Amino acid sequence: MTTLVNYAHRGASGNYPENTMIAFEKAIELGAAGIETDVQMTKDGELVLIHDEMLRRTTGLNSLVADIQSHDLLQLDAGSWFSPNFKDARIPTLAQLLDLAGQTGTILNIELKNGIAPYPGMEQKVIETVRAYGMENQVILSSFNHYSLIECKRLAPEIRTGILYMEGLYRPWKYALSIGASALHASHFAVLPDWVAEAAQHGVIYNVFTVNEPAEMLRLIQAGVAGIITDYPERLTALLNKL
Ligand code: G3P
Ligand code: MG
Repeated sequence: MTTLVNYAHRGASGNYPENTMIAFEKAIELGAAGIETDVQMTKDGELVLIHDEMLRRTTGLNSLVADIQSHDLLQLDAGSWFSPNFKDARIPTLAQLLDLAGQTGTILNIELKNGIAPYPGMEQKVIETVRAYGMENQVILSSFNHYSLIECKRLAPEIRTGILYMEGLYRPWKYALSIGASALHASHFAVLPDWVAEAAQHGVIYNVFTVNEPAEMLRLIQAGVAGIITDYPERLTALLNKL
């Protein structure tokens, strides 16, 4: 019996439009104990769940998230690009997902997408929203912008953070500890069993992205990672059920 957390990447985004409520709900149905999502901020300061800084790919609108009012963003069709069956899907707010996760006991990995657009004040707003739902213990904040993670830790020492990175960090557990982070959110190319073991000796866990092939999932399970972030939570559920 493993305690590994099955995180659905942007929800069950392999088969449903990413970062929409249907993708989150299906992820839970498919056995995900956790959901990874990306948060950004509209012009009027609403926290919304979308991966790209630009709305074009998933809604067709040629605007930055940072340049649009929430009233207009929340009406956009965020599902048709994936399939006409999902034309009713909208971009959710962070509050909507916290509400769902609170009801279902789902762990949330909230990735602050502030590496390109800086979104001043977003850390404070995310933390206020998480606290308003009493979900401090059910959330892990991550970002490729590590300055932002330091700010999160300053504002909310009680909420766990995870450093996102792609490759080649030397002794990343030492670095993680130096900025108060609990977890390494590493690309799966940057994970070897010895490193997972050494990180664990320092009390630092690995949550690894984005892992869609069962053979690679198995390698990481055997390496002892704490979480796997996948577009196909049903594949990881099936594998974990077999072990
Ligand atoms: O949080 C893991 C993963 O989502 C990071 O990359 O680009 O899919 O947000 P990206
Ligand atoms: Mg992400």
